[in-house]
Amino acid sequence: MTELPRNIILTGDAATRLRELPAATVDCVITSPPYYALRNYGHDDQLGLEATVDEWVAGLMPVFRELARVVKPTGSVWLNLGDSFSRHARYGAAPKGLLLAPERLVLALSGAGWLVRNKVVWAKTNPMPSSIQDRLTLTYEVVYFLARSPRYFFDLDAIREPHRSGGGKAAAKADHARPTYRGPLAASNEGLARERPPGQPGHPLGKNPGDVWQLPASNYRGGHFATFPPRLTQRPLLATCPEAVCTACGQGWKRQYTVRRLWSAKDQEATTVREAGEFIRCNCDAPTVPGVVLDPFFGTGTVGAVACENRRDYLGIELNPHYVQLAEERIKKACGSSDELQACPA
Ligand SMILES: C[S@@+](CC[C@H](N)C(=O)[O-])C[C@H]1O[C@@H](n2cnc3c(N)ncnc32)[C@H](O)[C@@H]1O
Repeated sequence: MTELPRNIILTGDAATRLRELPAATVDCVITSPPYYALRNYGHDDQLGLEATVDEWVAGLMPVFRELARVVKPTGSVWLNLGDSFSRHARYGAAPKGLLLAPERLVLALSGAGWLVRNKVVWAKTNPMPSSIQDRLTLTYEVVYFLARSPRYFFDLDAIREPHRSGGGKAAAKADHARPTYRGPLAASNEGLARERPPGQPGHPLGKNPGDVWQLPASNYRGGHFATFPPRLTQRPLLATCPEAVCTACGQGWKRQYTVRRLWSAKDQEATTVREAGEFIRCNCDAPTVPGVVLDPFFGTGTVGAVACENRRDYLGIELNPHYVQLAEERIKKACGSSDELQACPA
């Protein structure tokens, strides 16, 4: 296969189907593999039901070896993971102990050359209630953001959010109050002062959304119990899958954004509206194609539906043909503007 197939779902095992794909062709991956020992997806070849948590990690490594090959050097991976509690020492932790499955996997990936750039906390606004009496209820999952190299495509302006703090004197005072002692790996905030115009709370286009995302779990009611909420995939997509990629030089184009302040006489309040403008282009004068997002554990195709809504191309891999059929129906509906996906704001 010389060309990457686009906007289709490949049925079969993730690692096996990934081996058919050409190298360095995928812009970003957004995926949620089966968590360890939590679900049964009804197929003999499924991942997730290994005898131990370390075997689960070992089972996912061939998928990530292939992802390392098919992702462009400027590409990245968003990896959503959940954890489970052991019921017997044979699973890999003492009974009742958290297995730390996400940590085990991400350490293995870091050792295999992946650059771990963020650990995002998806704080669920509607977590599952629990009757447990001797520990806290689980209310979040993690989404790791991994890159192949230190320089990768990331469009922060596409995902900036309105500032909440007032800025001005208060912000300047807070900057001043920072301790002067810093260890060798402490973050520097020097850039913040540069991007904050006098009297403004921060960057004129809005703030970095940060690494705690408050979102409800999915309300998808279509015969699959572990679907992504569309909004969990939209922010990663907008940041790391270019809307247009030059076919000559391969550069991903970003849009120019502007902000307008609108005054509401009714609320006696000013609001800021962000508008996407023209592309910042390369000089090639060649055609462009949309960026491609890959999900090797496609399930019911949330990533495909959100890609299509946002004018990106997708490629899915899914083992269970029943889910493939559900995903195809869902994407068709989304591209014909489904209510569920239209509801998700940029
Ligand atoms: C957590 S779900 C993904 C759900 C998806 N994000 C969505 O929004 O619908 C994991 C999916 O991986 C699939 N799966 C399990 N083992 C697989 C394998 N070896 N190759 C490809 N897909 C697999 C399961 O059938 C399941 O649909």
